[in-house]
Amino acid sequence: MSQRTCLSVILAAGEGTRMKSALPKVLHQIAGLPMVAHVVKAAEAAGASDVALVIGHGADEMRRAAAKFAPEAETFVQDKRLGTAHAVLAAREAISKGYDDVLVMFGDTPLIDAQALATARRKLAEGAAVAVIGFRPPNPAGYGRLIEQAGRLVAIREEKDCSEAEKKIGFCNAGMMAVAGKHALQLLDAVGNKNAKGEYYLTDIVEIASAQGLDVVATEASFESALGINNRAELAQAEAIWQQRRRHEAMLSGVTLIAPETVYFSHDTEIGADTIVEPNVWFGPGVMVASGAKIHAFSHIEGAIVASNCDVGPFARLRPGADLRNKAKVGNFCEVKQAVIEEGAKVNHLTYIGDARVGAGANIGAGTITCNYDGYSKFFTDIGEGAFIGSNSSLVAPVTIGNGGYIASGSVITESVPDDALAFGRARQKTIPGKGKELRERFASAAAAKKKAAGTDH
Ligand code: UD1
Ligand code: CA
Repeated sequence: MSQRTCLSVILAAGEGTRMKSALPKVLHQIAGLPMVAHVVKAAEAAGASDVALVIGHGADEMRRAAAKFAPEAETFVQDKRLGTAHAVLAAREAISKGYDDVLVMFGDTPLIDAQALATARRKLAEGAAVAVIGFRPPNPAGYGRLIEQAGRLVAIREEKDCSEAEKKIGFCNAGMMAVAGKHALQLLDAVGNKNAKGEYYLTDIVEIASAQGLDVVATEASFESALGINNRAELAQAEAIWQQRRRHEAMLSGVTLIAPETVYFSHDTEIGADTIVEPNVWFGPGVMVASGAKIHAFSHIEGAIVASNCDVGPFARLRPGADLRNKAKVGNFCEVKQAVIEEGAKVNHLTYIGDARVGAGANIGAGTITCNYDGYSKFFTDIGEGAFIGSNSSLVAPVTIGNGGYIASGSVITESVPDDALAFGRARQKTIPGKGKELRERFASAAAAKKKAAGTDH
């Protein structure tokens, strides 16, 4: 099959009014990636070398988004929404380049798996002109029904055009189909619009092909993989299914998830074997975790690299650019942004490390803050190997702490500290015997006098 060329035409011109959103429907995200991008990925995984994206509603926004998630895709604008066959024909120029297979897909069916598409393509390789992907939804209302005669698919009837008997059919059109490239245009051009909705239905090519004596077949996909998204409840349902699949995959690949239903992955999360993820952890986009790491409960991680045997959290926040090297530790209520935490360094409690390097083996005390921002620009803090930053210190960037540098707790460090030096950046403590008691008495009598004066006013 691999030698057969394949174009995927993805329909995404619809408005998606039921999303009640300013954003085009297919740009709503699942696992941090627009749903239409999931569709593109599935098409590519099924062997489509080229992608034609049919857009209409929100075309500019769609083009901008597509440039990011599918820069190689060609976009075609369908000006008027006259039906799914009309939409496919918007990509006539691409189809007429002459592919062996044309895969028609919907941009709002994000869970479609490459397997189902590949199965449909295999049918074309075996000689079919059209291979429709069917499924059996719990409630078929609203879907096109697959009409079979003597085991052959002869038509797809939209719900509105179905007879009572046809409405009882449970095998439905998932929407996607594979069409032999050499027949695609003549079949699509033959579609008319004499139906209940007055639209050019893609599904009519089944009846047309079958009348021409061409081979038309139906394949079956799971209900989940054919789930179409029309509103935000269905979006959440798709997200839940996606997460469930991903968690399962992670566990089978050797990752321990103690409470899998509470861990959220992004479309691109990479996580190594023997890593343990405790409950309630969120992985935003762009995270790579190596093997043998521990991600403790309630950590929020995005755009970060966590090397092997690191310890993160509980309640850690790793923001974009956080780069933890082997055996680094970032503990509770710590935030790390755009910073390298080198091998074995410890950032254990209540700390902000931003725009910085923390050298190997350094120890960052509780409450340390890198003051990286003056309201206009960001500045870098460089902390050397084996440095010790005493608790509650502020390192005012740009500043360098040399290797083995030692910062007294409570310091505000504004000047760089050489290797192995000790720096104090705070006032020296003064202790006055008896002064505490004297102050307490003075304050007590002042308060009593004030209360008495207030009483005599009445
Ligand atoms: C379609 C199928 C139906 C199937 C169902 C599965 C047809 C005629 N019907 O019905 O058999 O059971 O999907 O979900 O194909 N679109 C355009 N331009 C248009 C019309 C549609 O781009 O002019 C896009 C929409 O944005 C959407 C997709 O095509 O992504 C499907 O269109 P929609 O109107 O939702 O079709 P259904 O009525 O759901
Ligand atoms: Ca639909």
